[in-house]
Amino acid sequence: MRIRVVLVSLVLVTCGVSAPARAVVSFGAVVPAPVSSVPASGVTYQITSSASVYSDVPGTGDLLAQQLRRSTGYPVPIASAPPADGISLRLTGAPGGDEAYQLDVTAAAITISANKPAGLFYGVQTLRQLLPPTADSPTVQPGPWQVPGGRIVDQPRYAYRGAMLDVARHFFPLSAVERYVDQIALYKINVLHLHLSDDQGWRIVIDSWPRLATYGGSTAVGGDPGGYYTKAQYQELVAYAAARSVTIIPEIDMPGHTNAALASYADLNCNGVAPPLYTGTDVGFSSLCVSKEITYTFVDQVLGELAAITPGPYLHLGGDEASSTSAADYKTFMNRVQPLAHGKTVIGWHDIVNATPLPSTVAQYWGTSTRNAAVAGAGRKVIMSPASRAYLDMKYNRRTPLGQTWAGVIEVRDAYGWDPATFLSGLPSSQVLGVEAPLWTETIRTGADIDYMAFPRLPALAELGWSPQSTHDWTAFKSRLAAQGPRWRVMGVNYYHSTQISWPAGS
Ligand code: ACM
Repeated sequence: MRIRVVLVSLVLVTCGVSAPARAVVSFGAVVPAPVSSVPASGVTYQITSSASVYSDVPGTGDLLAQQLRRSTGYPVPIASAPPADGISLRLTGAPGGDEAYQLDVTAAAITISANKPAGLFYGVQTLRQLLPPTADSPTVQPGPWQVPGGRIVDQPRYAYRGAMLDVARHFFPLSAVERYVDQIALYKINVLHLHLSDDQGWRIVIDSWPRLATYGGSTAVGGDPGGYYTKAQYQELVAYAAARSVTIIPEIDMPGHTNAALASYADLNCNGVAPPLYTGTDVGFSSLCVSKEITYTFVDQVLGELAAITPGPYLHLGGDEASSTSAADYKTFMNRVQPLAHGKTVIGWHDIVNATPLPSTVAQYWGTSTRNAAVAGAGRKVIMSPASRAYLDMKYNRRTPLGQTWAGVIEVRDAYGWDPATFLSGLPSSQVLGVEAPLWTETIRTGADIDYMAFPRLPALAELGWSPQSTHDWTAFKSRLAAQGPRWRVMGVNYYHSTQISWPAGS
């Protein structure tokens, strides 16, 4: 550590080209925007080879130290007490709730204080964004490793800040999903909703119905390779996510979007005949058999096995686009399956309001309209995922090579330019649980494809979920977002270089 005056010195090289200035990152570069940040003019802290990390709880401190070792090449040991020179993570409290934190950077040390481990984790994500982008490199880079001095006091606007990944239309190996967890956690997203079953594939082992995975999971859209997660892999993912303050919410979509299950077990079909596996992209043609008792045994056993390996509080039962189920059958079915969630709270796509949602059932709004009286009414909690703003599978513009357009095209400004509290007219803001950005994968086949559609829109959604509405400002957001470009480049994120953003040269 040494005290430095922040002279952002542009090093002019003799040939007249300015070398990249080792400018200290500014507080104004953090996404999502913090509630309050007060820079200490002229103060910086510098991580040197003598820095160590101390944490009141295991986990977050280790992740931070590992990353700093990788990129700085310094030893960064874990200290047994708050170090004179280093970074301390303390459960000594912060103004706000479980996810709140306070970050203090002086010339001598960095302290993150919080009420709970989640707050410490979020303080560390802010700290990462205050370090030079190269601090996120997987390989050793030259320093210096400076952090701007000052204080940030921060807490989220909404408790629920989600991303959804459709692993049914295309299957993604565990490593790709864990990479996505890493990416979303950097922006303080705390839910990964996994769409685990659909017409084109069933992606989780259910011991009492083994053909769901082995047969129903063997396909994907376009005949691409299928796949499924073992329970051990799913539990590994749950733990990996938990270490990054991310809760996994599994979705088994029903009664529609079920061709993979219907193909796996003839008994689940009203006519007793299993349809062939499906690799197209139509929706609305499949339905579980509402009049058969075995359907409810199936749902009960599937949800029971899933609940047993899901520590989070929610199970998502889908319920969307059940166009092959009559309205009466839909109501009968959704009303019978909601109590089968094995102690978990049910989330359904907002179509579930056409049945009788339990008072605790959460509706996920995916419409494009700003009016839907049935969803807004009845005092229920709502997750806001309006398709025309929050769907990451919509194209950025007509020339985007991936994605769809049925809900419109969504440039970065569109993804950022709405307020979850007021989007749906008539929905009291107190009923908004939060936001979620779904990524459907009919056209998405690789990790690089995921990157391209999620970045930079996912950080826009993350900011809507975390930052107070009073900070909402497109011009300021654009410059915060631009600062992420060099970080994504270092991290190998294949982001869309939207022309709405002035990305720094070379990023
Ligand atoms: C949906 O997009 N069918 C929820």
